[in-house]
Amino acid sequence: MKRFPEAEQGNRAHWDELAQAHSSSYDYDRLLSGGHLIDEIQLREMGDVAGRSLLHLQCHIGTDTLSWARLGARVTGADISPVSLRVARGLAEKCGLDTRFVESSVYDLPSKLSETFDIVYTSVGVLCWLSDLNEWAGIIRRFLKPGGLFYMMEVHPFLCVFDDEAEGLQTRYDYFHHDEPIKWPGDYPDYAGDGYMVRSPSWEWQWSMGDIMNALMGSDLRVEFLHEHNWIPWKALPSMVECGEGKWKLPKGMDILPLMFSVRAIREGN
Ligand SMILES: C[S@@+](CC[C@H](N)C(=O)[O-])C[C@H]1O[C@@H](n2cnc3c(N)ncnc32)[C@H](O)[C@@H]1O
Repeated sequence: MKRFPEAEQGNRAHWDELAQAHSSSYDYDRLLSGGHLIDEIQLREMGDVAGRSLLHLQCHIGTDTLSWARLGARVTGADISPVSLRVARGLAEKCGLDTRFVESSVYDLPSKLSETFDIVYTSVGVLCWLSDLNEWAGIIRRFLKPGGLFYMMEVHPFLCVFDDEAEGLQTRYDYFHHDEPIKWPGDYPDYAGDGYMVRSPSWEWQWSMGDIMNALMGSDLRVEFLHEHNWIPWKALPSMVECGEGKWKLPKGMDILPLMFSVRAIREGN
């Protein structure tokens, strides 16, 4: 597998910066007051997690990891950003939840964790940081017990073709993957709100729906479903309107396009 050290190290610094900013902008209060942050679709599609071991890839500041712990899972979160994990551990302590966090690139995780899990989970804003999805899918398989469950909720790749600085829907970016990442300069407002301006650059890859599904199926993961959704949990395009409970949609007449997708797959064989 080809690695991109400048992109990987740059993205680590980028997420260290954002983790600091997110330590005041994410919805912690619900976790601190005994609730969780998992939406009703993920709850239904994941099923009961109580008593099951769960590995959360690219867990960021651990808000979803802790949410699954609160729902009864035995959780391990992994992320490349040490500041994200520092925030996650602090939050786990405040919530009194038993968790484990491992600092690692997805690609180095097999050399840092030896066990297997009932569930591998990842969500929202994860694939664009990965340079090789076939390797990623193989790592998911590596960490699943036979019969274990992989679940992902993610931004639909189709949304990524639109210009996020233009009103309405104007295509601007390529839908298809390229080996070299796109480098984004800093100096734009953070997606989590609060007016924070991101300073550090980042490096991202676009993956098509075909790339994602073929990577999973090519690693002997039996896909149970691919669901497409017409909402997203932040205002990703200027014309989007809030439609309740932290969800945003395209305005009436344009709300016929997929903005998110979810996949559930099972590890076959031994
Ligand atoms: C958008 S966040 C994760 C989303 C999560 N749903 C959230 O909002 O809390 C993306 C995460 O991917 C992590 N990341 C980026 N590249 C990575 C890599 N190569 N290996 C592991 N984690 C990586 C970042 O550090 C960041 O915490």
